[in-house]
Amino acid sequence: SEPLRLGIAGLGTVGVGVVRIIRQQAALLEARLGRKITISAVSARSKDRDRGVSLSGYDWENDPIKLATRDDIDVFVELMGGEDGPAKDATEAALKAGKQVVTANKAMLAIHGAELAELAENNGLVLRYEAAVAGGIPVIKTLTEGLAGNQISRVMGVMNGSCNFILTRMENSGKTYEEIFAEADGLGYLEADPQLDVGGIDAAHKLALLAAIAFGTRPDFAGIQLEGIERVSIDDIRAAADMGYKIKLLGVAQKTGRGLEQRMQPCLVPDTSPLGQLDGGTNMVVIEGDAVGQIVLRGPGAGEGPTASAVMSDICDIARGWRGPVFGQPVASLQSAVAATSQRP
Ligand code: HSE
Repeated sequence: SEPLRLGIAGLGTVGVGVVRIIRQQAALLEARLGRKITISAVSARSKDRDRGVSLSGYDWENDPIKLATRDDIDVFVELMGGEDGPAKDATEAALKAGKQVVTANKAMLAIHGAELAELAENNGLVLRYEAAVAGGIPVIKTLTEGLAGNQISRVMGVMNGSCNFILTRMENSGKTYEEIFAEADGLGYLEADPQLDVGGIDAAHKLALLAAIAFGTRPDFAGIQLEGIERVSIDDIRAAADMGYKIKLLGVAQKTGRGLEQRMQPCLVPDTSPLGQLDGGTNMVVIEGDAVGQIVLRGPGAGEGPTASAVMSDICDIARGWRGPVFGQPVASLQSAVAATSQRP
C-alpha cells in the first residue's frame, strides 16, 4: 500500500532520533505496518550543521509553514518546541491543510491544546503527542487507550528528569542547590531556558495534559498550583532524610470534593516507596483507576532514543489508520477546568 509521507520540522535531539529510527528500522517498520514510512522534506534553523545522521533524499525547507502544507506530506511532525511562534503557526497551517500532526511540544499543547484540538477534530484529523509527556514512557496511550474503561481518581508523578537529577545529586553529594544546578547545566541536562525545568514549568505542562485526559477537562496550565525546586536547601533534604523521606518535585492531579486539584511542588515521599526510590534523570507516573487499581510507569523521560521512540509510536498509529480525539474524548465535550475548580475555597 501507499507509503506514509512525513515532513519533519526541527532537527534537534528528538528530530535526529526520529530520522535515525526511520532510516535504521525501515524493514522492521514496514513489516509491522504493512507500508513504508518515508520522509519527504525536513526543516530546521540551520541547514549545514552536521547532525550525525544522513538527510539525503529529503527536500529542505527553510520555512516550517511551507513544509507543513506541502502536497507530498501526509503527516506534519513538529519537533521545534516553544509555546507560540513557528511551532504553533506551522501546526495550525498543517491542520488547515488537512495534514495529520505529531508533536512533542508540551508547552504548546498545555497552553493552546484545546484550540488546536478543535481545529484537528473539526477537520477529521488526529493530533498525537506521546513524546510530550514523560519521554519514552507511553503514558498518553496508557491513559487514553489502556485505561479507557476506568474512572481515574488520581494521576501523579515525577515528570521532569532534570529536577530529579538535581535533587538526587544534592542528596548524594551534600552539595548545595547552586553547585548542583551548575553541574547539571554543564552536563547539558537543562533546557535552554533552565527556568522551565527548575521552576517546575515543564513538569506542569505535562501534568496539565495528563489531567485533561484523566478527568475530561480542558488543559488548564494556569490552574496548577506551581512551585519549583529553587528553594529546596540541603538542610531540607537532610531533615527529610532523618525522618525517612525524600524530596521530589511531584505533580498531582486529582478529583476532590471541591473539583479538580492540580499541584506541582516539592513534596516529601517515603524513601522506601517507588517514588522515593526514583533516582537520577528518570520519570515515574502513578495512575489510579477504579477498575485497575494502581499502576506505576517508570522510565527515561528525555533523551534522543526515548523521546524518538514515543514520536515513532504516534507515527505508527497514524500509519495504521488510528483515529481518535486529542484528549481522550471529543474536545467539545471537555469540561472547563475553571468550572471544575471554581468551588475551591
Ligand atoms: N528537561 C526535561 C526533563 C526534558 O528533564 O524532563 C524532557 O521534557
